[in-house]
Amino acid sequence: MTMPAQPHSTDGSMYEHIGGAVVVSAVVDRLYTLIDEDVLLRRYFARVDMTRQKRHMVALLSQVLGGPRQYKGRDLAEAHRSLGISGEHYEQVGNYLLAALLIVQAPHDVIDAVTEVLAGQRDQIVGASGPSHTGDGGSGTAAVVWPPEVG
Ligand code: HEM
Repeated sequence: MTMPAQPHSTDGSMYEHIGGAVVVSAVVDRLYTLIDEDVLLRRYFARVDMTRQKRHMVALLSQVLGGPRQYKGRDLAEAHRSLGISGEHYEQVGNYLLAALLIVQAPHDVIDAVTEVLAGQRDQIVGASGPSHTGDGGSGTAAVVWPPEVG
């Protein structure tokens, strides 16, 4: 996955500014709490190992912010390919991530960097092959609710 280049030293990095590992994990925990409270989004994660998911998201966020950890999970396009994620759901997950960052008073450079990554990754994540895919990758207006409620 292509990510903005970051210095190897974490000193003076956005990662340090935000509060390092403890705060990055708190942000990721908050993100998945918000997702879990959202009936339209939680369905996607019904069968997902959330411990592993959080670990991957912590590594990804750490990498984006110039921290010591590097994301070694699947390519984002591959990980999301079969999920049929709508543009609307993508925006909402992005909003929750930004909200979680704002709650810990993340500085503007962090918000800007994450906003940029969100815009850059959108095409990798939205669309794919679920029934709600409309072909424009972002209308979010499909009538079919996907994925179906589980359990
Ligand atoms: C906002 C940008 C997003 C980022 C940066 C992101 C990041 C990630 C990462 C790092 C993984 C782990 C991949 C792996 O295990 O190898 C993942 C998996 C996953 N993501 Fe996202 N994601 C985003 C948006 C979304 C959205 C909008 C949804 C659904 C509404 C979603 C649903 C999932 C699911 C269900 C998995 C697990 C897939 C599986 O294990 O097979 N993601 N995502």
